[in-house]
Amino acid sequence: MVKNSEGIPISVKIRLGPKDKINVLEIAKIIEDNGASLITLHARTRKDRYDDEPDWEWIKKVKESVDIAVVGNGSIFNAEDAVRMLNETNCDAVLLGRGAYGNPFIFKQINYLLEGKNYTPTISEIGETAKHHIDLLEKEQGLVKNLDRAKKNIIWYFKYLSGIWDLIDQLYPVNNFDGIKGVLNNHILKLQENFYPPIDVEDIRKKFNNRVLFWLTKEEVKV
Ligand SMILES: Cc1cc2nc3c(=O)[nH]c(=O)nc-3n(C[C@H](O)[C@H](O)[C@H](O)COP(=O)(O)O)c2cc1C
Repeated sequence: MVKNSEGIPISVKIRLGPKDKINVLEIAKIIEDNGASLITLHARTRKDRYDDEPDWEWIKKVKESVDIAVVGNGSIFNAEDAVRMLNETNCDAVLLGRGAYGNPFIFKQINYLLEGKNYTPTISEIGETAKHHIDLLEKEQGLVKNLDRAKKNIIWYFKYLSGIWDLIDQLYPVNNFDGIKGVLNNHILKLQENFYPPIDVEDIRKKFNNRVLFWLTKEEVKV
């Protein structure tokens, strides 16, 4: 690919290797020797599920063993996690997936924290973003196909705020986009009026980090 890319940088994303024979340092060297410009390491083995913790130590080892850029990846759920990974592993950048579910603000939050500042979106900003998101889903594929996806995403936007269980209960029986928008608008108003009692954010954080689909059913669902 490097030979035929006409100068366009090639990046490679890898895991640690098989669980019984982690070979990431060997693979990283091969990637570098073949001219790639950047390695992204998801610090889990091929077999690890999301409930197994990633081992960031390997990101540090890869960073020490190659001269090309190394991007760390695995279980960054907030800005503090991102800054911790940068500090602990010395990687050049971070990549994240699930941490952006319902929180597209996370990238701004990371940049802010790197400058020693905090960024907290307002309820109205979260609400407007969630509404924009479901409008796009509706436009993209129509209501039938994207209804569950819309519900799931709305739940993610509000998962760490009080009233989340009420929101889930209200969304669950709704079967059209207008209904979803009604529930959403109502929920935003209630949050702005401090209607709901506080929730245990840490408990929710743990559940969400391991099993993101849990949110559709309240039951633990294997992903
Ligand atoms: C919705 C979704 C789609 C993904 N698609 C890809 C993909 O196409 N290629 C890939 O290498 N990894 C993919 N991944 C894995 C992520 O890039 C990442 O390695 C993994 O989720 C661990 O990062 P996280 O703990 O920040 O979620 C995907 C992850 C998610 C959640």
